Amino acid sequence: MLPTPYIKCDYETVYEPCEDSFLVLDCLEQEQSFLQTRFKHQLAIVCELGPGSGIVTTFLMQNDIPNNEGSVYLALDISPWALEATQNTQKRNGCQNRYLSVIQSDLSKCLRRNSTDLLVFNPPYVPAEQVPERPSHEDDKGQWLDLALLGGEDGMVVTQEVLNQLDTILSQEGVAYILFCARNKPEQVAEKMKQQGWSVDLIINRKAGWEVLSIYRFTRS
Ligand SMILES: C[S@@+](CC[C@H](N)C(=O)[O-])C[C@H]1O[C@@H](n2cnc3c(N)ncnc32)[C@H](O)[C@@H]1O
Repeated sequence: MLPTPYIKCDYETVYEPCEDSFLVLDCLEQEQSFLQTRFKHQLAIVCELGPGSGIVTTFLMQNDIPNNEGSVYLALDISPWALEATQNTQKRNGCQNRYLSVIQSDLSKCLRRNSTDLLVFNPPYVPAEQVPERPSHEDDKGQWLDLALLGGEDGMVVTQEVLNQLDTILSQEGVAYILFCARNKPEQVAEKMKQQGWSVDLIINRKAGWEVLSIYRFTRS
């Protein structure tokens, strides 16, 4: 079993790792050999959208996922608090020797086209009337936290934006892992993506309280 990063953050501003975060870690552990084989002898560009506390990105760095060829890790979050937390988590877990860039970005806007080999996203997936506006001040703490949770109609507004951009985000061999809750209607989403030419595989799912969470893997067919 791979080690889990030690996390200490201010949970008034940053999403506290919970069942969904741990499902992502279990998914990546399960996929480790698939990823090692896929990116053998290749310096990979790894990007996490919405790192929050930095638990997932640090787990990837700590455990040399996808490989030990000196991957470049990018952690992109809209929240300045999440970026600070991610850097702290990197240090706290002794991963300063890994190349990590934390960047304030609205989803993938700052990424170079078709350059990401491994994309991981645990999105704001809770259905809500709308996706909250981006707070105008860093100190509007609770509002940054709302952005971590609320995903608009069907909880899918933010995730759908990423799915729409997937073709321009991923490299030719690129792989994306995206988390859904049942209210996101993931089977329908998977079907639609298949119709658009993607290979979509359910990697892991789990009941978490009253939610059922699942993570799908997207690759080019
Ligand atoms: C559910 S939390 C996941 C946090 C962490 N990855 C984990 O698994 O514990 C969602 C994260 O996405 C970020 N986020 C929300 N909307 C975003 C956007 N438009 N662009 C970038 N990041 C965003 C939030 O700030 C938050 O850190």
